Amino acid sequence: MHKATRPGIPPGNILDNLRTAVVCLDASLTVSYLNTASEMLFGVSARHCHHEVFDRALPYLADHRPRLTAALAEGAAYTERELHLAAGEGDPLIVDCTVTPFTEDDGQPALLLEFLSLDRQLRISRDDQMRIQNLANREMIRGLAHEIKNPLGGLRGAAQLLEREIDDPGLVEFTTVIIREADRLQNLVDGMLGPRRPPNKQPINIHEPLEHVRALVSADMAADVSLVRDYDPSIPALAADREQLIQVFFNLIGNALHALDNAGQVMIRSRTQRLFTIGGVQHRLVARVDIIDNGPGIDRDLLPRIFHPMVSSRADGSGMGLPIAQYLIHLHDGLIECESRPGQTVFSVFLPMGEASE
Ligand SMILES: Nc1ncnc2c1ncn2[C@@H]1O[C@H](COP(=O)(O)OP(=O)(O)O)[C@@H](O)[C@H]1O
Ligand SMILES: [Mg+2]
Repeated sequence: MHKATRPGIPPGNILDNLRTAVVCLDASLTVSYLNTASEMLFGVSARHCHHEVFDRALPYLADHRPRLTAALAEGAAYTERELHLAAGEGDPLIVDCTVTPFTEDDGQPALLLEFLSLDRQLRISRDDQMRIQNLANREMIRGLAHEIKNPLGGLRGAAQLLEREIDDPGLVEFTTVIIREADRLQNLVDGMLGPRRPPNKQPINIHEPLEHVRALVSADMAADVSLVRDYDPSIPALAADREQLIQVFFNLIGNALHALDNAGQVMIRSRTQRLFTIGGVQHRLVARVDIIDNGPGIDRDLLPRIFHPMVSSRADGSGMGLPIAQYLIHLHDGLIECESRPGQTVFSVFLPMGEASE
């Protein structure tokens, strides 16, 4: 960092507490300073970047050499909005970027780069909305389920009493129908209520529940369906409720297999991902599990609603698989997202690992 020459200029540790990513480049476009927000945004360490040429230190900026060179030569500031910065095969960063030329103490020209991550802001508003909706839905379902359960118990009890009093086997058939259908409704309502206990979080290898579900569904899979794995074995253990994760993966993998209709491929992929914001909290590291199928995809008009309760395109579907999975992952401070087009549907489960970064 160039020396502060005026009293009152913030020392480096204040810059390190800024949410805006700040990078300084010297006259030869090497990194002379990079604050903590930049380390987090670009996934690099300041120590490694220091004195490196900017495009080696920050591959996300590799395409920007001409503009930076011009800004340096002309001393002209510029701002670019909603810039998509790509590096390798990862998701691009979406940022507002401001580049301001300044003069170093030794008279050399230099550049101050500021980046405001928009991706994070878009994501916050999107997943906050989803969480609020999910919780409101659960409250409504709980209320409704209890209203149904009580009279249902009375109905079933009365049918049982009646059954004992009737001698005519032709009439017993009717009470049997009442009891059977009452039980079916009871199961449906129990399913809608979902988990009734808080998660019992224990350190767990994410692949363990995945393998459990894989074994479970492999047993009755159509011959032309393949279930392939692409695991990152280095993912550290995370604190989670094993049973609840099994339920989540079972719902997601089950949906993928249903969508395939007897032929196709489901891939289970695990990765870690740096810097991911969930419900307004940025996590340094999250585990990410993708369930990817090459089925027909989800209808465009259905897609925004699939996490809502009782939304189903299947004749025998309850529409509760995804809302319950989302709820269980919320209990783990995580998030499920979906991207779908014909030929590829991806459900991504994000689970924070360890401490949040703010
Ligand atoms: N992998 C997938 N491919 C295509 N459609 C899917 C997929 N996963 C979910 N869906 C759609 O989302 C709907 C809701 O799923 P879900 O909540 O599990 O309820 P259900 O499976 O009982 O229908 C499904 O009916 C289906 O239309
Ligand atoms: Mg389902």
